[in-house]
Amino acid sequence: MGSSDFTDRLTATAAETEALLERLLDGATMPGETTRPTRLLAAMRHGALGGGKRLRPFLVVECAALFDAPRDGALLTGCALELLHCYSLVHDDLPAMDNDDLRRGHPTVHKKFDDATAILAGDALLTLAFDVMARDEVHADATVRIVLVRALARAAGIGGMAGGQMLDLAAEGRFAPKRTLSETEIVTLQAMKTGALIRFACDAGAMLGQADAQATAAVAHYGAAIGQAFQIADDLLDAEGDSAVLGKAAGKDAAAGKATLVAILGAQESRARLDRLISAADDALVPFGAKADALRAAARFIAQRQS
Ligand code: IPE
Ligand code: IPE
Ligand code: MG
Ligand code: MG
Ligand code: MG
Repeated sequence: MGSSDFTDRLTATAAETEALLERLLDGATMPGETTRPTRLLAAMRHGALGGGKRLRPFLVVECAALFDAPRDGALLTGCALELLHCYSLVHDDLPAMDNDDLRRGHPTVHKKFDDATAILAGDALLTLAFDVMARDEVHADATVRIVLVRALARAAGIGGMAGGQMLDLAAEGRFAPKRTLSETEIVTLQAMKTGALIRFACDAGAMLGQADAQATAAVAHYGAAIGQAFQIADDLLDAEGDSAVLGKAAGKDAAAGKATLVAILGAQESRARLDRLISAADDALVPFGAKADALRAAARFIAQRQS
């Protein structure tokens, strides 16, 4: 698949994701809810709508397609994951965390609103993610939905994204004298803070398609490789990218003392590692033949993206 075909396909799935998120974040209450406070809803919408590559929903949809799982359930699963990803960004940007003012080309949620509203918007996006993941429309089999909910919880929680964010902040030397992390420690940190949600996106496709053990393992290998590649590319963009194109600040990781492979290995070696990870992602996809072409293109996109 050429890069323009890939871009068209990503754009189409992103538009479907946006439309679904728009519906999930309207003012109408769901059974069991009392009211949706206007300010909190506006902050959630600011954090979740109108921007973002929507790469994680794309990965869910394309991995589910390997197994001919229904697209609608995959898209809804992708939306649940995207809500959770957006929460992670809202909290990541808070003054107590990375203290960023710009996200997706707009003021961050705490800048546009205030810190307390941003914390609550994150909380409410996180909980809405699990509401959506548990919905009947995700999959006809309730057991599959429970497996997805549990896997998302583990990818997002102490042994996944939130745990990785803790290690990321600790590595800045906030809680104890700063020490340079080893390569292995950085790989673990990044597999948690970023890799876990990207790997979940891929694993979810296999879960929705009730893939066999071999195919499930192949998809997991692909997800782990692109997850690692994703954060290396993000760190390269922080070091070398343009804030206007990125839609977020650049050049902050080194100043903050973030533990990155770019910091310990340099840009050139990091780029070589990216190439190796893309090869590993391709290797994992061999069993799926031409059906995995969009996923091959996604791996290239992750390594070469400019934003
Ligand atoms: C940014 O994720 C945060 C990281 C995990 C590095 P994305 O680069 O996917 O951000 P959006 O969703 O496209 O804005
Ligand atoms: C954040 O990594 C990963 C998350 C869990 C949100 P970064 O802190 O490098 O992400 P950006 O650069 O702010 O998007
Ligand atoms: Mg961060
Ligand atoms: Mg950040
Ligand atoms: Mg970054």
